[in-house]
Amino acid sequence: MYFSNLYEYITGKEFNMTRIQRAILSLALLAGTTGVLFAQETVSGNSRGISASFTVQKDRVEITMSAPVQGWVAIGIDPTDKMKDADFKIAYVKDGTVYIRDDFGNSPIAHSEDVKLGGTSDILSYSGKEEKGITTITFVVSRQTTDSKDKPLTPGTHKIIVAASDSDSFTAKHKTVGSFTITLP
Ligand code: HEM
Repeated sequence: MYFSNLYEYITGKEFNMTRIQRAILSLALLAGTTGVLFAQETVSGNSRGISASFTVQKDRVEITMSAPVQGWVAIGIDPTDKMKDADFKIAYVKDGTVYIRDDFGNSPIAHSEDVKLGGTSDILSYSGKEEKGITTITFVVSRQTTDSKDKPLTPGTHKIIVAASDSDSFTAKHKTVGSFTITLP
């Protein structure tokens, strides 16, 4: 067996492991290999009670945003002036169903759907829940899309704006806004 040969080669002693010890060693090696093959790293931020975490996995990023509201929660990636030029993902849960939109900041105080601005909706998958007054949404995007209305999630620092509302409507204004900076791997 591979372990025994290696062990004997290194230690010069006869390999004599119990089944349990062999199982533990196998699991440790498997976990190590899986970690290398599926390396992922999570960075997160929080502002005024609204949090967002970003888990980078190869060319995709899984984002979870959460806020103590019964309406929408949103993030905006890399704005230039207040809401302008931010890549927004905004979502709410109504009667157990998740509604989510890929938007763009078309002015410092407004946003509109990518699809209405000549872009595309680029949310690959999503899920969410509203429980005990907290709305939590998880979705997956590509690090880089072909849509000019999306901001690439390249390695390095990004300004993130967050907002939340108690209204289940994409056009209702926020009751809370915040911002933070993340550094993606
Ligand atoms: C339909 C939805 C939205 C409307 C109508 C709206 C409207 C506005 C308005 C009118 C302002 C100017 C300042 C004020 O009056 O408070 C503002 C500021 C701002 N909004 Fe929005 N907004 C919306 C969604 C969002 C979303 C989804 C985000 C972030 C994820 C966001 C982030 C911000 C930020 C960071 C500011 C600047 C706050 C400051 O510098 O004081 N907004 N918004």
